[in-house]
Amino acid sequence: MTGTELTGKRLLVTGAGSGIGRVAARLFQARGAEVLLAGRRLDALRETLPGAVCVALDHADEAAVRAFAQTCPPLDGLFLAAGELSTGSVEASPVAVFDAMIAANLRGPWLLAHHLGPLLKPGASVVLVGSNIGLRAIPDSAAYSVAKAGVHMLAKVLALEWAPRHIRCNAIAPGPVHTPMVAARLAGSADPAEDLARLAGVNPLGRMGTEAEVAALAAHLLSDESAWTTGTVIPLDGGADAVY
Ligand SMILES: NC(=O)c1ccc[n+]([C@@H]2O[C@H](COP(=O)([O-])OP(=O)(O)OC[C@H]3O[C@@H](n4cnc5c(N)ncnc54)[C@H](OP(=O)(O)O)[C@@H]3O)[C@@H](O)[C@H]2O)c1
Repeated sequence: MTGTELTGKRLLVTGAGSGIGRVAARLFQARGAEVLLAGRRLDALRETLPGAVCVALDHADEAAVRAFAQTCPPLDGLFLAAGELSTGSVEASPVAVFDAMIAANLRGPWLLAHHLGPLLKPGASVVLVGSNIGLRAIPDSAAYSVAKAGVHMLAKVLALEWAPRHIRCNAIAPGPVHTPMVAARLAGSADPAEDLARLAGVNPLGRMGTEAEVAALAAHLLSDESAWTTGTVIPLDGGADAVY
């Protein structure tokens, strides 16, 4: 076997039109999974995997998630990568930013778990994407950090609730990964080169992560190789979690 085997598994990937979700969807398919792609931009999803089933879905819209659940076939797993980043301190952030961060990062996974949970087969695995700044506080990404901390707890709660059905749930907490999300953040910076160097230098391995590294861990967690792993939040951050 050359990599984690996902043959025969039907997996839903959110945020599949960009960044980590896109790379993960491609990896899961290459490892044998049937992948359903969800995201807001259908054209981007079609670019990820031509020919795959694509679903236009704002995961924070309960009516849309409920309607999707009514047509969705039984699933062997979810990789919930959709999310949005906003910076700013508690005092500097308008409350609308807090609401938007909770909607994009926490309400979405909650709604998907609530409505798609009944469709998960025994043996299924769910992987949420949190963040290392949901584990360790830094100033200036307050609403995002708080939402991601909620994602980590959601993974643990779901692991307990679903264990009797032999369904697992874990979260990955990545450090900085060079995706369109980070590129957009850098584009808004006064000194993008300095910010990029700072992001790369915040961990002992001295570089940013790659989308492929997050996807590989997700593939392991979705596969039967990790059948005894549930309720965990795994930092994937070049060692940053060991330092703070
Ligand atoms: N990159 C990092 O450094 C980093 C670090 C830690 C955690 N993360 C997390 O990793 C995940 C993937 O991020 P990324 O860096 O790959 O970012 P990305 O390239 O910006 O991709 C994010 C995706 O989420 C989708 N999305 C956002 N809000 C949505 C909503 N309400 N409904 C449905 N889809 C929505 C976007 O869809 P559209 O394109 O259609 O808008 C996009 O495809 C996110 O949860 C992020 O918070 C990233």
